[in-house]
Amino acid sequence: MSQKRPHILLISNSGQVGWELQRTLAPLGEVVATGRNRGAKLVVDLARPDSLVQAFNEVRPTLVVNAAAYTAVDKAESEPDLAEVVNAVAPGIIGELATRQGAAVIHYSTDYVFDGALDCPYREDDKTNPAGVYGRTKLQGEQALLDSAADALIFRTAWVYGQHGENFLKTMQRLFAERDELRVVDDQVGSPTWSRMIAEATAQIAAQLKMNTARFGEKRGIYHLTAAGQTSWFGFAQAILKNSESDCRLLPIPGTEYPTPAVRPAWSVLDNRKLNDTFGLALPDWCGSLQQCMAEG
Ligand SMILES: NC(=O)c1ccc[n+]([C@@H]2O[C@H](COP(=O)([O-])OP(=O)(O)OC[C@H]3O[C@@H](n4cnc5c(N)ncnc54)[C@H](OP(=O)(O)O)[C@@H]3O)[C@@H](O)[C@H]2O)c1
Repeated sequence: MSQKRPHILLISNSGQVGWELQRTLAPLGEVVATGRNRGAKLVVDLARPDSLVQAFNEVRPTLVVNAAAYTAVDKAESEPDLAEVVNAVAPGIIGELATRQGAAVIHYSTDYVFDGALDCPYREDDKTNPAGVYGRTKLQGEQALLDSAADALIFRTAWVYGQHGENFLKTMQRLFAERDELRVVDDQVGSPTWSRMIAEATAQIAAQLKMNTARFGEKRGIYHLTAAGQTSWFGFAQAILKNSESDCRLLPIPGTEYPTPAVRPAWSVLDNRKLNDTFGLALPDWCGSLQQCMAEG
């Protein structure tokens, strides 16, 4: 008798990570991806809980992977209510629905839950203190999901880029073509992480746990999941320039010379040891991944 393939509910495949997850999750089960627009096969708008209920009832998932979020860090400062519904409230609803149906959950969070005051890489249980609406709502979402008692893994990642979607790499490539000189912030440090690496690690972990909800339950909690190494936005831009054919000149500036609506942490490097100890996984260095990503572009 043939075994039924598990159903995987992928909440949104249009973002950077969601796009990559479609491919990496496919060997593990039947991936049903949702979209926000009417044209989507299955519509989920995280601001509409009824759409989540409907999606769960339709798919009856073994695993739910939530790749959707309100990610506009600056815009969130002027749209806190929407950011809260999507980032803080929806993960709790996903957790409750998953618990009711016996499904495991994978969810993503951010380095921006920290204020950047530490001077060494952040561990999962270090004190959080988000500086802006985005970080605060993402932190609330982590808590809501854990409060739901779902068998959930939360991966905090950072500085995500890739060939698909809007991100720093794409912005720099566009500006290198338009400008002779570019000023880039040099006093905020983090770990640029390729969306594909996040998606591949996610699938490897789900495979290790054999798509089994109880096994997810044994490992439930928060994990840091970023590329190895660290750099500033300026260093990131320099590495992009090195792999580009452009004569653009880069100038390092302090964050105070590039004011944005949201305050960003000066230091948000995450310590990935828990991920490594638990799943034997470590993402490669950010610089090599960037080269690989750009070579494919
Ligand atoms: N980007 C980063 O630098 C970064 C850093 C740290 C952590 N993270 C976290 O990593 C995860 C993935 O981020 P990403 O970079 O892949 O995001 P992204 O490229 O900005 O994509 C966001 C996704 O969320 C969807 N979405 C937004 N509002 C929605 C709503 N109300 N209902 C349903 N879907 C909605 C978008 O759909 P549409 O295409 O329809 O808008 C899109 O698919 C998120 O949890 C994010 O917080 C990201």
